[in-house]
Amino acid sequence: MERTLVLLKPDCVQRRLIGRILARFEDKGLNFVAMKMLQITPELARQHYAEHVEKPFYPNLEAFITSAPVVAVAVEGVEAIRVVREMLGATSGLAALAGTIRGDFSGSRQMNLVHASDGPQAATRELELFFRPEELCPYDPLVASVLRAADE
Ligand code: PPS
Repeated sequence: MERTLVLLKPDCVQRRLIGRILARFEDKGLNFVAMKMLQITPELARQHYAEHVEKPFYPNLEAFITSAPVVAVAVEGVEAIRVVREMLGATSGLAALAGTIRGDFSGSRQMNLVHASDGPQAATRELELFFRPEELCPYDPLVASVLRAADE
């Protein structure tokens, strides 16, 4: 089991796509173990996007991610970090394949609807940025027995 951070970005919230996009993760069999809506501050944006702060596009990215609320979700599942990234598709909605979330809903590199951690280290760091340990609500999903075999 892995956990990864998903952020439904301001464009997702403004376009009323929260429910439809969360449903795709539930349909896949992934588990939500924490969720909150918040307005990202410039300070939190700099922490979250630390590796991009020096890049030329960062000012635009910060302005965008702080422009309206986001929904942060801790998503759990087998190989969840890779599975969620693949469900999002390529960074740019123009390049993302049909059938991926960005491929189906986005035509933009900045307004690509959803962020997800890109590896185990990022997942740990990003989950700690958005959730205190006591905010995580792990549980045994009753549907697990019909989602995959016991040895998978
Ligand atoms: S990079 O430079 O290749 O590492 O960047 P990339 O992984 O493609 O993108 C990292 C996040 O930055 C956002 N991004 C941009 N925002 C605004 N303007 C421009 N030009 C731009 N290029 C990339 C991109 O949406 C990624 O956001 P997240 O939230 O990580 O998906």
